Amino acid sequence: MEKVKITINNNGSIRIEGEVELYDGSGNKFELGDKKIFSLCRCGLSNKKPFCDGSHKGNFVHECQAWDLTK
Ligand code: FES
Repeated sequence: MEKVKITINNNGSIRIEGEVELYDGSGNKFELGDKKIFSLCRCGLSNKKPFCDGSHKGNFVHECQAWDLTK
């Protein structure tokens, strides 16, 4: 299975690159079609949650830096 790349964008979304299955909390699957690149909202402002619709622009500030989760 190919690895999926997930990028936490500064002041914005979570970008998903790769083949994934996405479910809601009730176990219902989102139909993504052929999409292998999409973005999830992490600002809470999107009208298309859980997907990013660009509403974060100018309205969300969070600089993300990776750290070692094993420590
Ligand atoms: S991160 Fe883009 S709309 Fe929330």
